[in-house]
Amino acid sequence: MTQKITAAITAVGGFVPEDKLTNADLEKIVDTNDEWIRTRTGIEERRILKGQKGTSDLLTPAVEQLLKKRGISPLEIDALVVGTVTPDMMFPSTANLVCHKAGLKNAFGFDLLAACSGFLYALTTGAALIESGRYKKVIVAGGDKMSSIVDYSDRTTCIIFGDGGAAVLLEANTEGYGVQDSILRSDGAGCPHLHMKAGGSLRPASAETIANKEHFIYQEGQPVFKAAVKGMADVSAELLERNNLTGDDIAWLVPHQANKRIIDATADRIGLSHDKVMLNIQRYGNTTAGTIPLCLWDWESKLKKGDNIVLAAFGGGFTWGATLLKWGY
Ligand code: UT7
Repeated sequence: MTQKITAAITAVGGFVPEDKLTNADLEKIVDTNDEWIRTRTGIEERRILKGQKGTSDLLTPAVEQLLKKRGISPLEIDALVVGTVTPDMMFPSTANLVCHKAGLKNAFGFDLLAACSGFLYALTTGAALIESGRYKKVIVAGGDKMSSIVDYSDRTTCIIFGDGGAAVLLEANTEGYGVQDSILRSDGAGCPHLHMKAGGSLRPASAETIANKEHFIYQEGQPVFKAAVKGMADVSAELLERNNLTGDDIAWLVPHQANKRIIDATADRIGLSHDKVMLNIQRYGNTTAGTIPLCLWDWESKLKKGDNIVLAAFGGGFTWGATLLKWGY
């Protein structure tokens, strides 16, 4: 009898730039204050990638760290899937550039765009490559240089986002560890509330799009907030229910770090005490596709083999989803 192959996470690597942008720094740039930012979002500071550097400069060190921790050669990697909305350039893909920089010479790589749900979409895709039996080692990365698309004169968005990224190694496993189940959703009707107006084929860059500030994030906070609270909580509850699990069976919730209030609502909905929720939004802000793997990177030493972990996200698109993991080391 052939054994079922699952995709187990066997190593995590991460990278955040050294430069910090604190709430006090933002008070000097826009009409805001530390108290408002902390109470409305939970954020205290974010990291900013300075200089002429792109998302590949966040993800290459993350991939290199992961390979070093696992003690394997870059030549062993079969594929790299990158979730990002801030690729170094429209093409080639950032995955393509990271493969080159980190020496993944035997891998194919591609980017996947699902905004804040990018890591979950990429993880499900990477896991499917492993589960097919055709690939043995796949790296899944998520990261964004959000500072490249933030308008630092818009107080409603500039306080939220930061730069960072992380990556996980998926390896074929026959003991049942790794990705167990995943529910991913998308609804293009959410586009008007969160998007970047120009720079794509619909509105290519022009003097007009630049003058109109159309190359920055456009977000209507409240409708996104409402949809996020419902979307993330619903899908997490559905995932537990269809796997016959309750909050008591879950060791950790790893939520997308967009707003502490959205995270609290999700934990409450699935009956999880708040000390089982990974939270690093106060230090990094919202790094879009980077938030979930950065949490795994920060919490790696606390995770135990066999832990049931729920990853959940909601973001631009709208896109959302939840993934159930059994930690493998
Ligand atoms: O990761 C991608 C998905 N994105 C999200 O999940 C984000 C979801 N949305 C949110 O997290 C929240 O909507 C925000 C944090 C963006 C905004 O919080 P809010 O509680 O929804 O605030 P609001 O937009 O209702 O604004 C409340 C007030 C307004 O003033 P008035 O009209 O009541 O006088 C805003 O002008 O707060 C004002 N305001 C600010 N005040 C100080 C908005 N931004 C700021 C600011 N500092 N930075």
